[in-house]
Amino acid sequence: MDEVIDINSDLAQVVRLALAEQSEDVRLFVARLVRRYRTEAPELAEQLDMYLRAKVSRSAAPLRKAVQRPDVSRPALPIDDESRLSLLKAFKDAPDREPPLLSAELEESLGQLIEERRQADRLTSMGLVPTRSAIFVGQPGVGKTLTARWLASQLGVELYVLDLTAVMSSLLGRSGNNLRAALDFAKRTPCVLLLDEIDAIAKRRSDDTDVGELKRLVTVILQEVDEWPSTGLLLAATNHPELIDPALWRRFDLVVEFKIPDLSAVKAAVKRFLGPDFALFGRWLDILAFAFSGESFSDIERDIQRFRRAVALGTASDAEMIEEFIRSRALSLSHQGRIDMAIMLAKQTRLSQHAISEITGVSRDTIRKYTGEPTPTKRVAKKRAEA
Ligand SMILES: Nc1ncnc2c1ncn2[C@@H]1O[C@H](COP(=O)(O)OP(=O)(O)OP(=O)(O)O)[C@@H](O)[C@H]1O
Ligand SMILES: [Mg+2]
Repeated sequence: MDEVIDINSDLAQVVRLALAEQSEDVRLFVARLVRRYRTEAPELAEQLDMYLRAKVSRSAAPLRKAVQRPDVSRPALPIDDESRLSLLKAFKDAPDREPPLLSAELEESLGQLIEERRQADRLTSMGLVPTRSAIFVGQPGVGKTLTARWLASQLGVELYVLDLTAVMSSLLGRSGNNLRAALDFAKRTPCVLLLDEIDAIAKRRSDDTDVGELKRLVTVILQEVDEWPSTGLLLAATNHPELIDPALWRRFDLVVEFKIPDLSAVKAAVKRFLGPDFALFGRWLDILAFAFSGESFSDIERDIQRFRRAVALGTASDAEMIEEFIRSRALSLSHQGRIDMAIMLAKQTRLSQHAISEITGVSRDTIRKYTGEPTPTKRVAKKRAEA
């Protein structure tokens, strides 16, 4: 039986590697299997060994093709001369990438931005210029970076993200040049360039000793935003808009505000992050949405992944996970928030009033009052009156 289980997990591993097109890893893994099965299952080992050898000689060319070759059509990314770190990180996603969850308002303004770029020639012929730059503002984990990636995928171009650590890593006095090199590269290539966490420059201005250096960086960015070509799209993201230099702020064509998800967005997020486990957890949807209100998408995702892992491993049931979660959330709710939560639990679950009271900290009397259920004394009085 153990052997069967081993073979099952080996098979699953081979499939995973094969589907990820990690041909070299498949070969290494199969070679390990040949050694492992040699005594237990010699025939299988021999067969695998044969495939392995045949694969090497017959399809050496396609295998090599799968190994990444430097793309000659694409110029090399600029690097910091001293540390040799790349100043830009590149992402290329397929256009069918799942869109981020966006409010109707955001969907509209980003939809327009995409349309403008797709019909740039038409705009130009009418003497207009498509949006060249935008700044994304919002708390951590609401989808600023994710949306930049998705936008690039929709426009069919690469996303380059400026790596500030690499820009600043070099000798004092070089970061301005690094920044210029990175921006020049992005200007020459049709792409979306993201200056992620742009406040890091502004923030450091107040606590860094080398004020002059940071001022220079801001000056470079100021000039570049002004001169950005309409063939590219320059994005910046921050969760500290108050730290951004007002002169820089003014220069962006568009300000896009990412808000903490509202109730319907939280529900959509819970559904999406539950994936195939929605069938199991779906009955808790309203309660989860209530408990998650005020949280960012990434916090919601983190908790949901935790529930799914626990249930998948059988360490807890869905009900236990949800109860534990609500208990911890109730601690940070207002008095009225806890009452609302208790009423929802009373109406939508089969939990006893005792359990609900224990989970939410709301007294059973209060729960009865709001759910309209008679209190024990009233029940006795009612029975007496009926008798
Ligand atoms: N709008 C969204 N739709 C779907 N998933 C989201 C959304 N926002 C965040 N997420 C999830 O949270 C993760 C982190 O989001 P992201 O990196 O885009 O946040 P951010 O706004 O850039 O935060 P930070 O300010 O910390 O950089 C994403 O990879 C995704 O899994
Ligand atoms: Mg981000």
